[in-house]
Amino acid sequence: MCATTLDEYGTALFGGEDDFLRAIREEAIREGLPAIQVPPELGRLLSVLVAARGARSVLEIGTLFGYSTILLARALPLDGRVTSLEVNPKHADLARRNVQRAGLADRVEIELGPALESLQNLNGRTFDLVFIDADKPAYPDYLEWALRLTSPGDVIVADNVWRRGEVLLDDADEAASAMARFNRLVADNRRLRTTIVSTRDGGDAAIVSVVRAE
Ligand code: SAH
Ligand code: DHB
Ligand code: MG
Repeated sequence: MCATTLDEYGTALFGGEDDFLRAIREEAIREGLPAIQVPPELGRLLSVLVAARGARSVLEIGTLFGYSTILLARALPLDGRVTSLEVNPKHADLARRNVQRAGLADRVEIELGPALESLQNLNGRTFDLVFIDADKPAYPDYLEWALRLTSPGDVIVADNVWRRGEVLLDDADEAASAMARFNRLVADNRRLRTTIVSTRDGGDAAIVSVVRAE
């Protein structure tokens, strides 16, 4: 085993990506998409949470090329569904193709459009797990939607909540200051029991919340 960091060690032990996920990641880079898909440790955490929750319906905000979408869908039972929201048509097209190639087309729906518009159409639906991973300034709005679309026992995960500590800066950019506000909203919400989990060897983090009984 040749691991130099905790996350490399975790990936050496518990697995990272298979050949299919590596191939679609490399293709996405060739297509010029940003390589900002979930790192292996967050992919594993999402899979564990889907299984632990016994989730059958998952909402993802921010699809990119479908990397995390496929990880989530694979963790679901055959009758489970992932609904993933994506504003960029090029991303959504590639993600749909990847989901098809993964043999998961019947478990995944990708909704093209600004997430805040697509969410309006989901009003009334319920989800067992919500993964927030799109435009950072809208995270506080996505939190409201996540709370609206879930019930006690459901799980909310949000990526990129630490940003190398930028959330602490007084002169944080728009993304980091929205994230600091998001983290505070999560922390202050009595309906949520929350922890923050380091990713990317401490370079970033995700919050993981469970919705509590009222
Ligand atoms: N969850 C993906 C990574 C998502 S990257 C993975 O781990 O594989 C963030 C994605 O959010 C990008 O594809 C970007 O186009 C999309 N996005 C940005 N703003 C958005 C918006 N307002 N509505 C929906 N998607 C948005
Ligand atoms: C960025 C966005 C992400 O969702 C991520 O995981 C890493 C980086 C970004 O916009 O820079
Ligand atoms: Mg992210």
